[in-house]
Amino acid sequence: MIQFVNVTKSYDSNIAIRAVNLNIEKGEMVFITGPSGAGKTTLLRLIYRAEHPDEGQIIVAGWDVGKLKDRSIPYLRRNIGLVFQDYRLLQEKTVYDNIALTLRILKVGEGDIKTRVSNILKLVGIRHKSDSLPKDLSGGEQQRAVIARALVGDPTVLLADEPTGNLDPDTAMGILKLFKDINTRGTTVLIATHNRDLFAETGKRVIYLRDGEIEREALG
Ligand SMILES: Nc1ncnc2c1ncn2[C@@H]1O[C@H](COP(=O)(O)OP(=O)(O)OP(=O)(O)O)[C@@H](O)[C@H]1O
Ligand SMILES: [Mg+2]
Repeated sequence: MIQFVNVTKSYDSNIAIRAVNLNIEKGEMVFITGPSGAGKTTLLRLIYRAEHPDEGQIIVAGWDVGKLKDRSIPYLRRNIGLVFQDYRLLQEKTVYDNIALTLRILKVGEGDIKTRVSNILKLVGIRHKSDSLPKDLSGGEQQRAVIARALVGDPTVLLADEPTGNLDPDTAMGILKLFKDINTRGTTVLIATHNRDLFAETGKRVIYLRDGEIEREALG
C-alpha cells in the first residue's frame, strides 16, 4: 500500500529523511515514533505529496507519488485521510457541515451525504453532536470529528500526526481504540507519535526514526 525505496528529503542543508526503505501492506496499522526532529511529520507529508522527495521512489495505493503531475495530486489524496494538528475544523461550521464539506467538493448528492455523515459520526461515537459547533465540543470529541472528516471519503489509508497530542490519557486511549476499529474495518493506518503509551501492548509494528533514518523496528 505504501512503499519507500531509498527516499531522501532535505530542507536546504538539513536532511529530514535519509535513504529510507519502508513497506507497509494494505490493512496494516503502523506507528512511527522517535525524538523531535526525527522526521516523522516529513515522512507522512511525503506520502500525500505535501513534500516532494529529493531522491528515491514512493508508491502509495499504486501511485508513483514523486512522479505525479500537480493536477493528479487530488486523485492521490482521495485515497488518503488526514488527521493533522494544522488541519483543524472550520469553527463557524457545525460538525455535520465540516464533515459534509469533503463530500460536497466531490459533488456527492445531499441525500447520500446525509447517510454517509450520519454513519461516520456513529462510527466515531459523536452522532449526538452533529449540529454542534466545534467550540462546544471537548478535545476528544473534536478529535473524533476530525477523524470522521478524514474517513468520510472512504480512504484506503489514514495518516495521523500526533493524534492524541492535546488529550488526557483516558481520552487518548479512546482515540486509539477508534483507530484500531477503523483498521479492523480494513483501512491502512499510519500514526506518528511521541507517546509510547499509545503503541505499548498493541502488538502493532512500531518504526523508530532518528535523524531521518529508521533506527529499528519492533512490535508495540
Ligand atoms: N519546512 C521546513 N523547513 C525547514 N526544515 C524543516 C521543515 N520541516 C521540517 N524541517 C526539519 O526537518 C527535520 C524533521 O522534521 P519533522 O517535522 O519531520 O520531525 P518530527 O519527527 O515530526 O518532529 P516532532 O516530533 O517535533 O514533530 C527537523 O530537523 C526539522 O527542523
Ligand atoms: Mg512532527
